[in-house]
Parts: sequence; structure tokens; C-alpha cells
Amino acid sequence: MGTNPTDLQSNQSNSSALKQLASVIVLRCVECASLYPGVSDQPRYRCDCGGVLDVEAKIHHPTQQEPALQVRFEALTASETDVWPLAGIKWRQLFDKRSAQSPTWSINIDQQLPDKSGVWRYREMILPIPEQYIVSRPEGNTGLYPVGRENCGNHRAGHRQIGRYAGLDHLFLKHEGENPTGSFKDRGMTVGVTMANLLGARAVACASTGNTSASLASYAAQLGLPCIVFLPATHVARGKLAQSLAYSATTIQIEGDFDNAMRLVEQACNELDIYLLNSLNPFRIEGQKAIGFELLQQLDWEAPDWLVLPAGNLGNTSAIGKAFRQAYQLGLIAHMPRIAAIQASGANPFFRSFMNGFSRREHVQAQTIATAIKIGDPVSYSRARQAIEESNGIVEEVTDEEILAAKSVIDRSGIGCEPASAATLAGAHKLVERGIIKREERVVGILTGNLLKDSQTGIPQDKQDNAITANITAVKRALANKISL
Ligand code: F0G
Repeated sequence: MGTNPTDLQSNQSNSSALKQLASVIVLRCVECASLYPGVSDQPRYRCDCGGVLDVEAKIHHPTQQEPALQVRFEALTASETDVWPLAGIKWRQLFDKRSAQSPTWSINIDQQLPDKSGVWRYREMILPIPEQYIVSRPEGNTGLYPVGRENCGNHRAGHRQIGRYAGLDHLFLKHEGENPTGSFKDRGMTVGVTMANLLGARAVACASTGNTSASLASYAAQLGLPCIVFLPATHVARGKLAQSLAYSATTIQIEGDFDNAMRLVEQACNELDIYLLNSLNPFRIEGQKAIGFELLQQLDWEAPDWLVLPAGNLGNTSAIGKAFRQAYQLGLIAHMPRIAAIQASGANPFFRSFMNGFSRREHVQAQTIATAIKIGDPVSYSRARQAIEESNGIVEEVTDEEILAAKSVIDRSGIGCEPASAATLAGAHKLVERGIIKREERVVGILTGNLLKDSQTGIPQDKQDNAITANITAVKRALANKISL
């Protein structure tokens, strides 16, 4: 990997941090289980067999003897499943302590930042590296809104509409659109760009339907690293394109769709010595796991029955599945939530594969108004398949009309989201109607992106530009059917 023109001293400390990291992580092929070093001079994104890679890390448990709040860590030599029962309690105490809010983090940034981040708070399970390399805004700490018919609380009649629509008594929506760049991608990106920092990458790149690129552009800009984003021309929502341009990434629009852009960026990174930061990069997945840890912590470690999320390139399905598996193995939760991955029916290769019992991997020419998940050949297929199988999960599809109807319910409740995120509610609604999710089950849905990312789709044009004459008569006319005058 090429290096930045940094000084020799920092290169030396990088190399000792890299050595330390290499001693605790390996990369395992999801297809054939081959093992590769966790870090090497030439970053590796795939196995020789073509399969994608997964990070395997030695997780250090808080020791049993220590006082709960001054934990020391002990390397686990046994398998991850061989956990003594108290381990979960120690972990919970540690994370809860780190979550205590302090308003002073920005003046004590180096001491407080890792704990203030909704990713690095769980750092033993994310990436065991020295804190000085962490590139963080911080991210995470996103809202978990109770919106079910019964759990939505007082003065939330608008939010209860969401539970009514889904047909669920105990529904929560985790709004990942509240991350610094407005999508869940920031969680993976803080880890990806931290790795780029540690490796001394000279530039970073990704292909994107818009959110990954906005996130990468922002984190790379924070670090001062050149960033190149490959976008499928005309398929990216305006707000997202504006972000990558504003954050000063080199923005290359590719003829064709996301799948073309993805193939091209992988080739470009391998040939041009650029660090690839799509979710093909397994460290991105490690960061995205924090969505799972954070929502479990917000539920006081009472795992929900179901987790519902939109599925495109399948990184998020893989990451949350892995987080739940680890949380279960470490004794943080008592059971694994079932995962429901929801695809748009015009971009449904994973749904098709699920329907054939995962006997064949399907590809499609993707078409949907939810541009974020307009993907026909998802990179993380094998990882996500594992997540669905392990959690006794399900894959469902919803039409664009169902997505828009669900988006309008979320928007009108005052919460709001981008179109792809609304696949979550559309999917939950459908699965309740089909009797697969029971109305009394506890369900968490992920809203992946902010309403402002794609502020045009689903809002009728006449509502967008309906100026009236500036006088009280015109105001009364405009309000005639809205309130009693
Ligand atoms: N929701 C939003 C808002 C997204 O941006 C994406 C993916 C997804 C859902 C699907 O998540 O790919 O992990 O299954 N966006 C990627 C991007 C592809 O380039 O921003 P996934």
C-alpha cells in the first residue's frame, strides 16, 4: 500500500500498531473458510476463490475478579461460545458506563471521543486498535423511537400511526438517518477510514448509490485524505450527490448502474493502489455491527423478537446478523432476534435466492424508485445468507407503491426517512399481514437514511410549489379544509 507523505516517526508507530492488530485478527473466506492475515502490505478484499472475507478477532473478556467498572481484559483462548455466564453482565456494565453523557467531549476530545461514539463505545467487539488512530465524528447515538400501538407513550398520536399501519403493538424505529452524514453508513465508515489511516493509505474510493459515497467523502475530508467516488450516473438522489461534491470528493459518474460501478471501483482500487471502502472491505462490516449493539443497549439488552431492515448490497444485513450472533455468544442477550431483510420487488435478487432455498444465487437488472437499494448483484450475498439462516430469518419483497405508502406514514408521523428506509415499514406491514410476525411480538425496524437525502421522491409536485398571494384572503382559502375558521 502506498503511503502519505507523513513523517518517519508516525510510520514507525503505525507499524507497531499494525503488528499488534495482526496478532489478534484474521480474515476468513465466507465461501471456503480459507484464512488470510488480518493486515498485510497489499490489502485483500477477496479470497483466491472469489469469496468475500470476514474479520475474525480474538475478543477480550472483562475479567471476573475485577470490580465491574474498572475492568481489565483477558484474551479468550477458548472458542467464543465457551463463555462463563457472568461475562454478559460485565460487558453490559462497561458499555452502560461508557454511555454516560458528558457535554465536554469537544474540549477533551482525545480522552472522551471513543466512548462518545456509538461505534467505538463497543470497541472490543469492533476493532482492537490504539485509540490514537480512530477517525470519528463521533457517530451513532441515534434515536430508537417507540411507535407501536401500545408502546408509543404519551403525546405521540402521530407516531402511533406507524404502529397502526404495521399492525404491531410493540414497534421501535431506529433512525440511522440521525448519523453525521444522514445515514447508517457512518458506522462502517469510521472503522473503514480508521483502517485507511492506520495503513497509511494514499487515497480511498468506493462505488455507491449515494450514501456510502457521502459518508466516505466526509470522513476522508476529516482526515485530509484524497477520496474518489464512483456513482451510477442519473441513479443517485440529488441530496447525496450534493454531499459528495460539497465534501470535495473526486466524483466520477459512471454510465450504467451501481453493479457496473462496483465492478469498476474494485478493479481501479486493485490497479491504482487505492484503499477500497465499499462493504466488500470487511472492516466496514465490523463498524456497522454497532447498530445492533447500540439498539440492544437501548432496549436494556432485552433482545427484540424481530429486526426488520431494507436490503440492497446486503452489508447491513450481514453486519447486524453478526452483531446479534456475537452478542448472544458473549452472553449479552438471551436469544437471537430473527432478521427480516426487505427488498424492493424490482431489485430483489436476495429475495429470489431465498425463495429457491438459497440453492442458486440470483442476479437481476435492478429497477426501483428507492435508488439506495437499486442493486441487482449484491456483494455481501454469502454473509447475508448466513445471517438469515442463523437467525431463522426471512427475506421479503415490497413494491414501489408499498414503499411510497409506508414512507408517507413515516413522514406524516414527523419522523421522516428516505424511500429505501421505508421498505422496513412496508415489509413489517406485509409480514404481519401474512401472519409471520405476530402483532404482540417486539419488533425493531431500521430507518437507514434521512428524509432530506431524497426530498423529492414521494412528495407530489403541487405540494412542493404552491405559492399563494401574500394576503389574508388567500391564506384563509388555503386553510379552508385544514382547520375550522
Ligand atoms: N438504505 C439506504 C438508505 C442505503 O443507502 C442502503 C445502501 C441500504 C438501505 C441497503 O443497505 O447495501 O447494506 O444492504 N446503500 C449503499 C450505498 C449501497 O452505496 O450507499 P445494504
